[in-house]
Amino acid sequence: MGEFLDRIQRKDWDLIESGGYRDSRMLSRGIYKKLTEKVFGQDAACKTLSVVLFQHLKNCEWKERGKKLPKTNCLLAGPTGCGKTLLARTMAQIVELPFVRVDATNLVQRGYRGGMHNEQIADVLIAQAGGFKGMAENAIVFVDEIDKLRFSRDEDLDCHARGVQNDLLSLMDGGTIYYEPAHEEYGRKAFDTSNLLFIFSGAFSELVLGVEDADICAGDLINYGFMPEFANRIGTVVGLNYLSGEVIKKLVRKMVEEYTFYLPMPREELNVYTELIHSMLMRDESHTWKGGRCVGPMVRKFFEERMFEMGDKQLELKLK
Ligand SMILES: Nc1ncnc2c1ncn2[C@@H]1O[C@H](COP(=O)(O)OP(=O)(O)OP(=O)(O)O)[C@@H](O)[C@H]1O
Ligand SMILES: [Mg+2]
Repeated sequence: MGEFLDRIQRKDWDLIESGGYRDSRMLSRGIYKKLTEKVFGQDAACKTLSVVLFQHLKNCEWKERGKKLPKTNCLLAGPTGCGKTLLARTMAQIVELPFVRVDATNLVQRGYRGGMHNEQIADVLIAQAGGFKGMAENAIVFVDEIDKLRFSRDEDLDCHARGVQNDLLSLMDGGTIYYEPAHEEYGRKAFDTSNLLFIFSGAFSELVLGVEDADICAGDLINYGFMPEFANRIGTVVGLNYLSGEVIKKLVRKMVEEYTFYLPMPREELNVYTELIHSMLMRDESHTWKGGRCVGPMVRKFFEERMFEMGDKQLELKLK
């Protein structure tokens, strides 16, 4: 049994039910369960990604045994604040794989510098893996705002977008990155990218807007402004939903619960605060354009005053 499945098995999950870890459905299901504990209202995406992650772990295991299996790269498409970054980060966390987030907008704006980005990615991943290159080579690479890499009508930017798409292509194809380790005197080292799991992410508003369960294919991506070579290497496209009022309520509840560490409150009070904040959010409708990002500021604002007053009361008690 490989190191990866071994590690998963050691965890105290409900993964190893009667079928045991050899049953791929069990493992994917275990990952799915962990994902849905953190990411609300995206069950279809969690399901697809749990299988993607399971396959990735299997690939890691087979790689150790000297067999390289083909991999697929996937794309998360969905509105802002619906949990794309959260999903990718959670995937890495639950199986303890190194994770790097690359911002495509940034790459395009900084301009194409022939492979530079790739070296930086290798550096970050090796650092994240505590210097253990073998582990870094199994990492999850999350490329955010990928829709900014589409060709525009601006020639300069087009050239950059093309350059960055090419840079990424060489990684997706399992090319080797040569990098110079920071603390070593001599020579460049090779970083094998053939087992990196790529997750691309973007809003793709024009492709998914108003389309329930939008089914995006490579052809759509090419029309959108991606090189065919690039689009064709994205095997799995996952559409994410807008967050419903119910999901927002769950998010509010979770955050209010966190405040009980600062401001002890009985359960009834917790319920009342949750309802109150939720109805405030539904009234201002900010969730329709901010997604889950609307929750934090509102909850913080709500409790700021209460915590301030609480401080006053405690001071009064002391002074008496
Ligand atoms: N489905 C969800 N379940 C739980 N939390 C969520 C969900 N969607 C968003 N959030 C919360 O909202 C915030 C923003 O989420 P996230 O960064 O994942 O959005 P995103 O889809 O990556 O947005 P963007 O396209 O703007 O990058 C985070 O704090 C996250 O915890
Ligand atoms: Mg994001």
